[in-house]
Amino acid sequence: MRGHVQIEGLTKYYDVKERKGLFKSHKKQIVALQEVSLEIKPGEIFGLLGPNGAGKTTLIKCLTTLLIPTHGTAHINGYHLGKSDKQIRKSIGCMLMGERGLYWKLTGRENLLFFGALYRLNAVERERRAEELITRLNLAGIADRAVETYSSGQKMKLAFAKALLNDAPLLILDEPTNALDFPTARELQALVREMKREGKTVIYTTHIMAEAELLCERVAIIDHGQVLALGPVPELKASLQKEEILEVEGLIPAEAVAACRHVRGVTQTASTVVEGETRLTLVTEDARTTLPHLIRILTSHNTTIYQIKQKETTLEDVFIAHTGRTLAEDTRIR
Ligand SMILES: Nc1ncnc2c1ncn2[C@@H]1O[C@H](COP(=O)(O)OP(=O)(O)OP(=O)(O)O)[C@@H](O)[C@H]1O
Ligand SMILES: [Mg+2]
Repeated sequence: MRGHVQIEGLTKYYDVKERKGLFKSHKKQIVALQEVSLEIKPGEIFGLLGPNGAGKTTLIKCLTTLLIPTHGTAHINGYHLGKSDKQIRKSIGCMLMGERGLYWKLTGRENLLFFGALYRLNAVERERRAEELITRLNLAGIADRAVETYSSGQKMKLAFAKALLNDAPLLILDEPTNALDFPTARELQALVREMKREGKTVIYTTHIMAEAELLCERVAIIDHGQVLALGPVPELKASLQKEEILEVEGLIPAEAVAACRHVRGVTQTASTVVEGETRLTLVTEDARTTLPHLIRILTSHNTTIYQIKQKETTLEDVFIAHTGRTLAEDTRIR
């Protein structure tokens, strides 16, 4: 069996209560997913990208049968969601909560044996599989220690091993490198590529666009529960080919950022502030024409410019071009 997902019009509302003061509350509906339709093809690493609250985890939870969608349909590995949930669960490997999905008082090996039993692997089979994964993920030195003594990178590796236990054709990974240091993240990404080489299909959720660019063949960028852009990474970047990206770093007052939106040729702006220093990204039709106007506007608004550069289009720029926001921070200019 090859991993394959077909989603049509998947929608999820959450009903929540909002409390106002001690005694007042009212019901509210949150639209977490809105008519999401997409296909994940056999053997690909598919990136699900979007900022915090975009709906990524909700989509993953629906696909893994943990949440019932409000409406819409999906077929996972050929099984109809809602009708063949048991078969779906058997045919997927998941890493949903990272290290929180492990038992910290048990050793790494005991965790794998326990979850192997839940997958209904017989005793011999789960011993064999646990040993194989411990070796493959370089966990031998720590496998017989309680998980609570592991570093976060080691816990994430064990959580990844858990997702591989049932050797499923479809792997679903929700932010697997979240909070990992760079070398451990690279190690995990290499493992994901290895899985692809073995013919598995991978759904990889992240809010780090650069990570998706490195790893994924096709991506869906979602925001406020809707798919904004879908396709192979080079195609999405090429869709901005007519536009150019300028990046300004410096001490840029908020009024200057707002004023830049009206500079001739600028179609979209977004900014992030880190330790008082602003990084302003501008999508423009023609960087050369825009540049002198941009410098004039910035300097007339008391800006200290550290550097201005034209850069290669990235996936993050695709997001900015669609939303006017960076992924790091909601800095929409209203
Ligand atoms: N159990 C819940 N009850 C009510 N609202 C929820 C629940 N879980 C998520 N939401 C809301 O649904 C929306 C989508 O959340 P979701 O967790 O799917 O986003 P996400 O893309 O995974 O974000 P992150 O990058 O922060 O993990 C958000 O507005 C969130 O507040
Ligand atoms: Mg999430």
